Order: sequence, then C-alpha cells, then structure tokens
Amino acid sequence: MRKLRAAVIGGGVMGLNHLRVYSDMEDVDLVALADVNETLNKKIEKKYRIKTYTDYKEMLKHEQIDIVTVAVPTVLHHEVATAVLKHKIHLLLEKPIASSIEEADSIIKLARQNDVKLLIGHIERFNPAIQELKRLILRGDLGRIYKIDANRVSPIPVRIHDVGVTIDIGVHDIDVVRFLTESEPERIYAETAQRVHSKKEDLLAGIIKFSDGTICYLNVNWLTPTKIRKLYITGEKGMYVVDYIEQELLFFENAHDAQQTDIHLITEGKMIKYKIEKKEPLRNEIDHFVQCVLKDEEPLVSGEDGKAALRIATKLLLSAENNQVINYEEEQ
Ligand SMILES: NC(=O)c1ccc[n+]([C@@H]2O[C@H](COP(=O)([O-])OP(=O)(O)OC[C@H]3O[C@@H](n4cnc5c(N)ncnc54)[C@H](O)[C@@H]3O)[C@@H](O)[C@H]2O)c1
Repeated sequence: MRKLRAAVIGGGVMGLNHLRVYSDMEDVDLVALADVNETLNKKIEKKYRIKTYTDYKEMLKHEQIDIVTVAVPTVLHHEVATAVLKHKIHLLLEKPIASSIEEADSIIKLARQNDVKLLIGHIERFNPAIQELKRLILRGDLGRIYKIDANRVSPIPVRIHDVGVTIDIGVHDIDVVRFLTESEPERIYAETAQRVHSKKEDLLAGIIKFSDGTICYLNVNWLTPTKIRKLYITGEKGMYVVDYIEQELLFFENAHDAQQTDIHLITEGKMIKYKIEKKEPLRNEIDHFVQCVLKDEEPLVSGEDGKAALRIATKLLLSAENNQVINYEEEQ
C-alpha cells in the first residue's frame, strides 16, 4: 500500500508528540515540520532527518504532502487550517477547532469544498477507557444515564495565553459527554474565576442539562497542584469511574433489584475493574486518521463535533460573564 506523506505545523508540546507518532508508523512517511522556532527546527531535522520550514506556507508550496497535523496555538488554527485545506491536504487539526464559531464554520466548509478529511484532535475519544465505556453504555450495562461529573484539574501550563481553561481543556469533557449521551445541551449555567492567569479564566464550574435528561457537572481548573482527570457516570444500574490518565475503568453496581419493593432503592453492590488494553490515545487517534484517509472513511471526531464542543464552551463563558442561565436551543 502507498505510504502517506505527513507533515506537522507547530512543533511545540503537542506537535512534538505528533511528530514522534508519525515517525513510527508503517503507513506513513514523515517528511517535514513547519515551526517559527528555528532552534527547535534544527533539533527536529537532526532527530528525524526531515526538512523543516519557518514559514508553513513555503512548506505547503514545496512539499508533496498528503496529511498534516496543525498544532499551533488556538488563535492561529483558522489561518493555518485554511492554508492547508486550500492545498487539498487532509487535516488533523488539534482541539479546540478554532477560537470562534465563525472560524469553525469556515474550516468545516473549506474541508467539504476541497473534499478532504478533517479530524479534530479531541484525543479523549481515543482513550481506551472511554472507548470501552462507550461500548458498555451502548450494550445497556448502565441503563439510563442520570449524571456525569467531569473533573479535569491541574497546575497552570505557563505557555497557554490565547484561551482560558474552558476552551483549552473544558472542551475535552464537553466532547466526551456529547459522545457518551449522544445528546445536546438544553440549559447551561456556569461560574468562572480568574485567580492566577494573567488574561483568562482559570476555573470553571459548569452545569449542563442535556436533552436526554443527563445533568453534567464540569469541574475544570488550572489551580489544583496535582493533575486529576476523572469522569463519574451515574446511571440506573450503577456508576462508572474513568481515570483518563491511568486508562482505568471501574463500575460500582447498584444492587437494588427493580422488581423488589425494597425501601433501599439504591444499594451498594459489587465493584468491577475492567481489563483495558492500554494504548496511547494519540497513537489511536493518528492511526484512525490515517485509516480514514487510506480507506476514504469519515473521521470519528468531525468538524461539526469540534464546533459543537467549542459552541458549548463559549456558552458556558457567556453564562458566567452575564450571570445567567442559557437556553441552549434558543441561542443556536
Ligand atoms: N489534544 C490535546 O490533548 C492537546 C494537548 C495540548 C495542546 N493541544 C493543542 O495543540 C495546540 C498547540 O498547543 P501546544 O500546547 O503544543 O502549544 P505550544 O505553545 O507548546 O506549541 C505551539 C507551537 O506552535 C509554533 N508556532 C506558533 N506560531 C506559528 C506559526 N505561525 N507557524 C508555525 N508554527 C508556529 C510555536 O513556535 C510552538 O512551537 C493548541 O491548539 C492546543 O489546544 C492539544
């Protein structure tokens, strides 16, 4: 089979991971990196023996490329993605899709017009624990979902200046909750705070009522001195707990038998720890992207999904700013 020629634009914290994964794939030839940082480019040239460019437009002009990862700061996503799509190159665009809904719309439209694949890097969809959880929910093991608590807290990353914690990392959980419930918000309310970040909010406490009845609580911040990424999904038959970092999935069973007229409607049952085949989520994500291109299939996380996560994040911010509950459907 023909190998795909891959390039990366933006070789920072995330771009370096994309370079590492591409360089180790059978179906892919890593050919180039574009980053404005020349010192970084020199190191990458040596390490991977690929060409580097300080101007991504030059790279797009001179290299024959089939697939590109764009991992520049979020404010530049639209500009860089537009150039890539105009060259009819399949695009893996890091999350969040863009910094505004208008930009997201324009990226989605351009990908469609140029008939290329667009995958938004909502990496947690490719976390093996989330994939197993989705399988179990679809099988009916949880019954109706009542509530999802998403906890994504850690110290502040000094390099992120362009967006706050909601758009930078809150979008991960927003996307996962949409994926698990297959439903959209009805109502949104949030409180935010800016405690240590110089420009943006670094704390989000958000509540979203989804149209299937699920109530979601988002506890997201850059203020906690340890890194926690955990999801609690409570439903009719018990509660799942996902540890994204450990790729761990637990189930706490509700042992109550619905046929019995017992006063204890929820009772503690057995606890199951699922066996998860651990694999790097980014590796899964890029494998999926490459296979979508090779087999002409639609990516699991579409531009529309990226836009939906961004839209919900912006409504959370709007709610916090105006101190009001947002009726999501009316706001669309
Ligand atoms: N999926 C995830 O879990 C995840 C994790 C981290 C970051 N991200 C996303 O990846 C993107 C990059 O984040 P990061 O943490 O790697 O940031 P970063 O600051 O570490 O890296 C950004 C890189 O882009 C380069 N750059 C800036 N302007 C450029 C331009 N015009 N042309 C080419 N290169 C340019 C910078 O020199 C830098 O090397 C963001 O959108 C972020 O949201 C995703």
